[in-house]
Amino acid sequence: MNFHIFTLFPAMFQGPLSESILKRAQEKGLLSVSLHDIRDYAEDRHRIVDDYAYGGGPGMVMKPEPVFKAVETQLEQIREMQSEPVAVPVILMSPRGRVLTQNVAQELSGYPDIMLICGHYEGVDQRIIDHLVTDEISIGDYVLTGGELAAMVIIDCVARLGAGVLGSDESTTRESHTDGLLQFPQYTRPPEFRGWTVPEVLLSGHHARIEEWRREQALQETRRRRPDLLESSEEAPEVDSDT
Ligand code: ADE
Repeated sequence: MNFHIFTLFPAMFQGPLSESILKRAQEKGLLSVSLHDIRDYAEDRHRIVDDYAYGGGPGMVMKPEPVFKAVETQLEQIREMQSEPVAVPVILMSPRGRVLTQNVAQELSGYPDIMLICGHYEGVDQRIIDHLVTDEISIGDYVLTGGELAAMVIIDCVARLGAGVLGSDESTTRESHTDGLLQFPQYTRPPEFRGWTVPEVLLSGHHARIEEWRREQALQETRRRRPDLLESSEEAPEVDSDT
């Protein structure tokens, strides 16, 4: 899985990419993240990447020329390396985009190459959205100072779905959101801590009963914390309204 990041602040990515699972995935050759500084594609000697908004208003708008040049240069390189043409999503990180969910992450994990453009200032010139970008994604209904943190969230949640990225003990099949439910509570040793005990069933060694307990807990937790998830979940009909 190859991520191509277009940003004015490439240094922001170093920390998250040089630790833990993302670091290991890169070392194993399962993940690559190439960082492209949009300023390197500016056409003037002052390397200007933003300008005032037509019509007035506060804040600066990212200019189209450097963003088009940066993205198109990389698209050409990817195309040259592909034996047959494969779609490359060109995604703008934006609070106006469709909201990232586990399903969206799953969908993106099917692409070998993904481009993420990190917006800044008051926004980007609309022609970038109309004629270059294929998708806009928001990581939630709040506004960040720029798209970099949002892009890191996408890299993290999409990369971990890639084959071999997680070890077998870090499986993605039994976690929150994968089946439309929140995860059941987990416990580890000791069996008693400050008088708080681990539910008896988990110590029983009875796998069928443990499965049943976990499923019931997942449903209860979801109903209590995120009832909105149950409306779209296949599990919804099984929820008993008085338990
Ligand atoms: N840029 C600013 N806010 C954002 C958000 N919520 N999601 C994605 N990109 C953003």
